[in-house]
Amino acid sequence: MTVSTDRPDRPAAGPHAALEALRAEIGKAVVGQDAAVTGLVVALLCRGHVLLEGVPGIAKTLLVRTLATALELDHKRVQFTPDLMPSDVTGSLVYDARTAEFSFRPGPVFTHLLLADEINRTPPKTQASLLEAMEERQVSVEGAPRPLPEPFMVAATQNPLEYEGTYPLPEAQLDRFLLKLNLPLPSREQEIDVLTRHAAGFDPRDLSGAGVRPVAGPADLAAARAAVAKVTLAPEVTAYVVDLCRATRESPSLSLGASPRGATALLATSRAWAWLSGREYVVPDDVKALALPTLRHRVRLRPEAEMEGVTADSVLTGLLARVPVPR
Ligand SMILES: Nc1ncnc2c1ncn2[C@@H]1O[C@H](COP(=O)(O)OP(=O)(O)O)[C@@H](O)[C@H]1O
Ligand SMILES: [Mg+2]
Repeated sequence: MTVSTDRPDRPAAGPHAALEALRAEIGKAVVGQDAAVTGLVVALLCRGHVLLEGVPGIAKTLLVRTLATALELDHKRVQFTPDLMPSDVTGSLVYDARTAEFSFRPGPVFTHLLLADEINRTPPKTQASLLEAMEERQVSVEGAPRPLPEPFMVAATQNPLEYEGTYPLPEAQLDRFLLKLNLPLPSREQEIDVLTRHAAGFDPRDLSGAGVRPVAGPADLAAARAAVAKVTLAPEVTAYVVDLCRATRESPSLSLGASPRGATALLATSRAWAWLSGREYVVPDDVKALALPTLRHRVRLRPEAEMEGVTADSVLTGLLARVPVPR
């Protein structure tokens, strides 16, 4: 994030410094989960949405709430249950007997950061209404389009253990998420840190009590996006992105490789990462750094490979080691 000058309490300008400030701010509430923090920031810079995968109780909700607070953004959370209706997400027209008129009551999707919890527990129709809002950045109720706030990002969680009775997102829809971030369990040291903080009075419901303050805002985000758009790409680096994606289509372990949409996504996330790393041009290492979170949900394993314990990440890691890197 670049940092605006109208806030004397904000740290020195510079994208790297600002990212560190955001990290430090989030670190006041969330222990670890650095890769997820980076991924969320990359997605915000690219106007993308993220899938967060990890077992319950590893601070997915806390992370999104803290990010919203540190960026001075509005946020809402929706628990996707089997009986959730599309209008519970998007909003609906309600009749006002006093005025004898219908008025639109906005659903929770009208926010900056929407935490869509356990998206795979809700039937396809409700999933589709969210995905449509994500793609079009507007909601149509009774034919009238209503634009969503800007910025708008969905962080959707999936529980990796609980597959029974769920509605997995179809590949075509998974592709709509810019990144899939896998949140790991904390290390022993990190978990001790979590407990020590709680023992000292940390209350996850009171972020301001924990000292979390806005260190950047929507205007900074807009400025940062404009800066990312100026990051340059050498033709060899663009070709490298294409070669990697083509290699996924030829991998014997995969029945579906990354689409051109996936290639475009990898280009965008690499660019944002280059900028966050303080560079005005993309290097192959940027592409490598973002390849797994950008592509892992856009490829499909062959059942035989899956049975042998092969994962999307292991296939992609193998391709990164094999596809020639431009110098
Ligand atoms: N890495 C962590 N840092 C800080 N608190 C954590 C961490 N992991 C778990 N916690 C604690 O456990 C709770 C996890 O809740 P939550 O954010 O709802 O997890 P999830 O959404 O992943 O199920 C947090 O509110 C916090 O109290
Ligand atoms: Mg949660």
